[in-house]
Order: sequence, then structure tokens, then C-alpha cells
Amino acid sequence: MKKMLLITASVVLMGVVSTANAQGAGEKTYKMACFACHGTGAAGAPKHGDKAAWADRIAQGNATLYDHAIKGFKGKTGFMPAKGGRADLSDADVKAAVDYMVSGSK
Ligand code: HEC
Repeated sequence: MKKMLLITASVVLMGVVSTANAQGAGEKTYKMACFACHGTGAAGAPKHGDKAAWADRIAQGNATLYDHAIKGFKGKTGFMPAKGGRADLSDADVKAAVDYMVSGSK
């Protein structure tokens, strides 16, 4: 009985830790590679947390946002470099950073 409880507790704990990691990774990538423009609005970038600037972009759907962030995108307000200019980032890192910005901007 005691052992069962222990196993249950560690499974729950593992779930909590991996969720925290996924969120943390997006935030970490954002701070490292996206904040320079998206934290300040530099170069015409939609600012993190600016709901008005993000509403139409979010409405395009995540697939388009990921695509634009990974491959780069020239829009009405400026130029989004592929992966924010960080070719060393994985697609998953960039998607996590997009998720982080989107969830903080709606
Ligand atoms: C050198 C500045 C710069 C950096 C660094 C940068 N961005 Fe951008 N980003 C822009 C600009 C400018 C736009 C707006 C382009 C437009 O709509 O005209 C943009 C737009 C976007 C959009 C919206 C695309 C759309 O379809 O509306 C996403 C998503 C995005 N960036 C994600 C990221 C992520 C994730 C990172 C970090 C990995 C990042 N950006 C780093 C400048 C930057």
C-alpha cells in the first residue's frame, strides 16, 4: 500500500515537472532570442502582452504563426527574421517561444 502511494506521488510529480519545463523552455527561448524585438516593439515587432497588436496575428492560427516564426516573415510592420535570427534553435524551441508569447498576449 505504501509503495503504491509512493508510485502515484512520483508519477504526479513527474507530470508537474515536465509541464513546468515546457513552459520554462518557451520563456527561456523568448528571453534569449525574441525579447530584443518583441519585448520592446523594436523594428515593428508586435510587443509581448500587446493584445491589440497580437489579435489579428493570433486569429491566423498557430500553424501560420509557427511557420512565420520558423521560416521568417515580411509583414506590414516589419521583417521577422527566421527563428529570430537564431538558426541554432530547433523548430520545437521556436514553437515553444511562440506559444509563450501568444499565451501572454491574449
Ligand atoms: C530582429 C527583430 C526580431 C526578433 C529577434 C524576433 N522577431 Fe518575431 N517579429 C519581428 C517583426 C518586425 C515582426 C512583425 C512582422 C510584420 O508583421 O510586419 C515579427 C512577428 C512575429 C510573429 C507574428 C507573425 C505573424 O504571422 O503575424 C511571431 C509569431 C514571431 N515574430 C515570433 C518570434 C519568435 C518566436 C522569436 C524568437 C525566437 C522572434 N519572433 C524574434 C521581429 C523580430
